[in-house]
Amino acid sequence: MSALNDHRLPRPESTEGITLLHGTDGTPVRDLVRDGLAGSGLDPDDVRVAHLCPRCGGSAHGRPFLVGPDRAPYLGVSRTEGLVVVALAQVPVGVDVEPADRHVSSSVSAMILHPDERGDPLRSWVRKEAVLKATGEGLTTQPSSLSVEGGAVRRGGLTVLVRDVDVDGYVMALAVVADAWPQVRMRAAGEEAPAR
Ligand SMILES: CC(C)(COP(=O)(O)OP(=O)(O)OC[C@H]1O[C@@H](n2cnc3c(N)ncnc32)[C@H](O)[C@@H]1OP(=O)(O)O)[C@@H](O)C(=O)NCCC(=O)NCCS
Repeated sequence: MSALNDHRLPRPESTEGITLLHGTDGTPVRDLVRDGLAGSGLDPDDVRVAHLCPRCGGSAHGRPFLVGPDRAPYLGVSRTEGLVVVALAQVPVGVDVEPADRHVSSSVSAMILHPDERGDPLRSWVRKEAVLKATGEGLTTQPSSLSVEGGAVRRGGLTVLVRDVDVDGYVMALAVVADAWPQVRMRAAGEEAPAR
């Protein structure tokens, strides 16, 4: 799984949780990152968002990551109608969100669902995108080649955990390359960070 190897290694010893920030569409990712770094001891001015494409190695698109101090967290990004979500974590993280009323045709379902899966194709879709973002593979991997119904997937010798996140009107999933779930804290853009 070269996409993951292209990036920094997980830091499973970390006890810090995952911060999930959400804004309305149009909220710049960098603003959500600034909010998410509040109270972390990192100066947001020292951190910038960059990308690395697992397929072509280009830096104009692909997996997002933070450039800056060594302790800069891993970054996950998703946007859909009305919502932008950013996840910051000390382990590789992926997030995906879609409107709950999004129609999934039977031909798209066939591209999403693994032969063993019987669940809701939209939920399966966001779980798989979250997993494939956490590993950095993105849609270079066929979603139907993995099953996410058990909440954990093995990719390249590593465990990727995936879970649903409740957001009114949306179907959202979060995935991490880790053996156990860090605590997840979700808040809106501009909302004050809880004391750490
Ligand atoms: C990007 C992708 C993962 C999901 O797209 P989507 O569901 O339409 O859009 P979302 O808003 O949920 O996610 C987009 C974000 O995913 C992130 N992303 C893109 N590629 C990623 C990857 N390989 N791993 C992790 N995250 C990725 C980016 O942060 C992107 O937002 P940004 O560019 O504004 O920072 C999928 O479309 C994809 O993999 N596309 C690339 C296919 C490819 O490799 N093409 C070859 C190019 S050379």
